Amino acid sequence: MKPIKVGIAGVTGRMGAAVLFALRDTTGLTASIALVRPGGEKPDGIALAETLDAFLAGCDVVVDFSRPALLAELAPACAAAGKPLVSGTTGLEDATFKALTDAASRVAILHAPNMSIGINILRYLVEKASETLSADWSCEVFEAHHAHKVDAPSGTALRLGAAVEQARGAGAVSYAVEREGETIGFHEVRFAGPGERIVLAHEALDRGIFAQGALRAALWVVDQPPGLYGMDDVLALKSG
Ligand SMILES: NC(=O)c1ccc[n+]([C@@H]2O[C@H](COP(=O)([O-])OP(=O)(O)OC[C@H]3O[C@@H](n4cnc5c(N)ncnc54)[C@H](OP(=O)(O)O)[C@@H]3O)[C@@H](O)[C@H]2O)c1
Repeated sequence: MKPIKVGIAGVTGRMGAAVLFALRDTTGLTASIALVRPGGEKPDGIALAETLDAFLAGCDVVVDFSRPALLAELAPACAAAGKPLVSGTTGLEDATFKALTDAASRVAILHAPNMSIGINILRYLVEKASETLSADWSCEVFEAHHAHKVDAPSGTALRLGAAVEQARGAGAVSYAVEREGETIGFHEVRFAGPGERIVLAHEALDRGIFAQGALRAALWVVDQPPGLYGMDDVLALKSG
């Protein structure tokens, strides 16, 4: 069977480069084309397109790690071209989420603020702990990332907090953020009760884990009907 052709958005960035690298070793997928800005940096090792039309014509599925402004254009273009989209871009505003939701009525879209397998298992454990602990336990989500990260708290921290608030009500979580050096990603959820504490944590040691998660999602999403999906769906982590 021919490998599925992957188009990369954000290829000149840290994550885009990790996706291109991970594609070398991913059975069933091939690096087909990358979207770059006209006159921008031109990475080696993959065909390049400067327009969305040329980009989408050259791939079967899109993997995006870029910025919300690009994702807001990419999602409707994928819907129009019938190309499934996997996006890990974070810091989305409501309008960009709406663009994803609208596009998901026509094509399969997977958006996840953290594609690592470990962090998705962490979120599942946090959800279970939140459902079980009594109301006198407080909760803080702490996250640390490299100094270049734009959004804060991270999309992952907000999603962990949302898992807590879903069980314990709005306002049940406080956040703490650190931006320093080259930390790839550290998330810790601290539950404090009367006389005891539970700490659940995940540390990303290599950017490759997000790229591998995104490529696992790309292999999965190409067989899905239109809809908005998350890594829970890929990993079959059921809530409740
Ligand atoms: N979901 C996850 O697991 C996960 C993991 C890590 C990071 N992230 C998120 O992924 C995103 C990218 O992270 P990063 O560290 O790779 O960032 P980065 O190194 O700054 O790279 C951003 C990329 O997006 C491109 N880009 C931005 N705006 C664009 C536009 N309007 N048109 C075309 N290209 C545009 C940049 O191209 P230029 O070089 O031309 O500017 C660059 O290739 C961020 O939102 C980050 O939070 C998600």
